[in-house]
Amino acid sequence: MTNNLEAQLLALQQEGEKAIAAAETLERLEELRVSYLGKKGQLGALLRSMGQMSAEERPKIGAIANTVKESLQTSLDQQRTTLEAAKIRSQLEAETLDVTMPGFYRPQGRIHPLNGIIDRALDIFVGMGYTVAEGPEMETDYYNFEALNTPPDHPARDMQDTFYLPDGNLLRTHTSSVQIRYMEKEEPPIRVVAPGRVYRRDNVDATHSAVFHQIELLAIDRGLTFTDLKGTIKVFLQEMFGELPIRFRASYFPFTEPSAEVDLQWNGRWLEVMGCGMVDPNVLKAVGYDPETYTGFAAGFGVERFAMVLHQIDDIRRLYASDLRFLQQF
Ligand code: DAH
Repeated sequence: MTNNLEAQLLALQQEGEKAIAAAETLERLEELRVSYLGKKGQLGALLRSMGQMSAEERPKIGAIANTVKESLQTSLDQQRTTLEAAKIRSQLEAETLDVTMPGFYRPQGRIHPLNGIIDRALDIFVGMGYTVAEGPEMETDYYNFEALNTPPDHPARDMQDTFYLPDGNLLRTHTSSVQIRYMEKEEPPIRVVAPGRVYRRDNVDATHSAVFHQIELLAIDRGLTFTDLKGTIKVFLQEMFGELPIRFRASYFPFTEPSAEVDLQWNGRWLEVMGCGMVDPNVLKAVGYDPETYTGFAAGFGVERFAMVLHQIDDIRRLYASDLRFLQQF
């Protein structure tokens, strides 16, 4: 009986160690642990028959059973360590990075010089409390001219040669039309800046384009004066160009009274950079504002002109050619 049990225990140990050493996965190893050492495992089953043993036999078999158990546990632990190490090794191998492989070249995008100028200008005005607004490029005569104090027979219409559409509408010649649209929707006080495309029947050359960009500026409030206009323009131009001399030169626009042109001293020459003035009372009346209560100032300037000056661009057409050799310089 005893010898038989002893032989069985030793056979179990041998068989178990062989199976454990042959286990190729951690899952298989766990199966073996349960099968040999688990609560309902083979070792337990053998030991349960100890109940029929005599008191002298019992400690001897118990000691052997313990050795078998320890030995199997040690084998399991060793095999587990081996399999875990192998698993990590194979993961590392599968995930190997070849740091000498050439990377993917992703061409870097750039901001177009015109958008760069628009972004900077809007930033400056937003910093002064202005809101950004936009209006349609196809306009009615009313928003582009009439509401801006420029009736049909007004000679100032010749200042801007207009593209008319067959239906009587037109392509806006300036962003000043956004002044009217914005004032119709909003009530004073108003601080608004409006960027956008404008169209003129100009022959294209180094300084003219039939499509270009403007930024419009409008402030309406109680008690605004020409001083406010000058201060605002000065801050803006100095942020844009640096601390350069500027001058206000009397001029004419139908929608402002008085009107001025702003010159900037650039490389020793006076350069005209924008038009401006106090909003004409007729413009305020056109949108239902009382000119006795409100005054305001407005200004407009060409984005291309700013870009050409700031980036020393000699031909306006370069801004539209999409030539990478040009664009990559920004
Ligand atoms: N709209 C004018 C132009 O296109 C520019 C301009 C001048 C805008 C005076 C204004 C202004 O708002 O007050 O030439």
